Amino acid sequence: MKPFPKKIICIGAGYVGGPTMAVIADRCPEIEVTVVDLNADRIAAWNSAQLPVYEPGLAAVVGRARGRNLFFIGQGDGAKKMAEADLVFISVNTPTKTEGEGAGKASDLRYVESCAQFISEHARGHTIVVEKSTMPVRAADTIKRILAQNSHGGSFEVLSNPEFLAEGTAIRDLEAPDRVLIGGERPEPIEALASVYRRWVPAERIITTGLWSAELAKLAANAFLAQRVSSINALSALCEVTGAHVDEVARVVGSDSRIGPKFLKASVGFGGSCFKKDILSLVYLCEFHGVPEAAAYWQQVIELNEWQKRRFADQIIRQLGAAKGKVAVLGLAFKKDTNDFRESAALDICRQLLAAGLEVVSYDPRVDFAAFCQSAGIARGMQPAHTVREALSGASAVAVLTEWEEFRSIDWASMSLVPNAVIYDGRNILDPEMIRRANLLLHSIGGRDSD
Ligand code: UDX
Ligand code: ADP
Repeated sequence: MKPFPKKIICIGAGYVGGPTMAVIADRCPEIEVTVVDLNADRIAAWNSAQLPVYEPGLAAVVGRARGRNLFFIGQGDGAKKMAEADLVFISVNTPTKTEGEGAGKASDLRYVESCAQFISEHARGHTIVVEKSTMPVRAADTIKRILAQNSHGGSFEVLSNPEFLAEGTAIRDLEAPDRVLIGGERPEPIEALASVYRRWVPAERIITTGLWSAELAKLAANAFLAQRVSSINALSALCEVTGAHVDEVARVVGSDSRIGPKFLKASVGFGGSCFKKDILSLVYLCEFHGVPEAAAYWQQVIELNEWQKRRFADQIIRQLGAAKGKVAVLGLAFKKDTNDFRESAALDICRQLLAAGLEVVSYDPRVDFAAFCQSAGIARGMQPAHTVREALSGASAVAVLTEWEEFRSIDWASMSLVPNAVIYDGRNILDPEMIRRANLLLHSIGGRDSD
């Protein structure tokens, strides 16, 4: 019996679409998987040795499947491929709207709508359309409306199959997920998609729900994770003034099996393309559907995060005072093991330090410095360093903003910082003893100075 689906297309070759399709192709060699993107440079990069996404383990997975049953192609060739596809994933960006109804909160569905248009024009026969990108609840209605306009007599089913991978651990998360969620209205298309995942995911980890529950569950999961980070960050400020240490508090709180230890790491603030955008989308949905109290509750998770970033930069600015000086920023990515800096705490903190007249030198092992400055709207005042040593040379303050492993083992005593420089550990990864031995001062999040 031939497998169904036989041909899968994914529209969008980004941080989600690329790794997800690479793992599906790797695990299902009998299925042809084609990834389409309108960005020709991105497609060229996926077909090269220099993949556009840095993710541990990704290059090996792509290396095994690319050219065998995994293909990255441009939009023009995608139209032909679409006619043969049984199953189409929509994996494009759904940024926060910047204008019109819901600006600043609601998700902008224009890229999703243009995908639906593309599918509607080029698909033939019966096609299952899968929402992979995070969508607001009832986005499937919009997709269905556009698909219904197709004039080739095609028939469609829409499923919601939101992605739960976290950047930096994407391959691990895709290969051994906690759960795969499939929301739909009829059992047959749900079963077709489930049959793909069952090739490597235990059946009990595949959760099926209604379409609207699946769409909302993804927003809810991200809101809960972000809420935990904001909760521990709120406590970090209280720890700093009371002498408690937030890591100790988190250990105690997290050892209650009802609470659990994950996502209780105090930090300089959460970043990434999902948390802020998805909570804003949730806030908008609450307001739109007449529950402003729930909207205010979730909005506060974001407010706390913005405050945490401001608070961290303010401490550095206050310490350096009128003397100003150079700040070494270690880490621009929103977390370790990714080259992604979308909504990274570093964007706001670097802008704030520069606005206060400080000189900023940054080092990150993976982030493209020019792209970072462009995205932050930083035209001048910030310099790149190619090594930690170069960044730290002559610095009066150091801000550790990403928890890259190499920062844990810096030999502080051998660096040329100014005497009594203060290290602001925005990730609580540094060893206080090593800092003390180098005659430097340490300020950790939610801890005592030089503890
Ligand atoms: C998140 C969700 O985890 C994932 O399931 C979803 O599919 C997409 O959004 P991602 O944004 O890639 O994934 O990374 P995540 O590991 O969730 O971290 C988000 C931010 O929170 C990072 O800036 C991270 O440093 C920060 N964080 C996380 C903390 O500050 N403390 C923690 O304890 C955990
Ligand atoms: P994510 O983190 O959700 O994967 P990205 O921004 O990394 O988001 O990737 C989304 C990709 O979708 C981009 O490469 C973008 O060029 C692509 N894209 C957006 N709209 C379309 C479209 N209509 N057709 C094809 N590709 C699209």
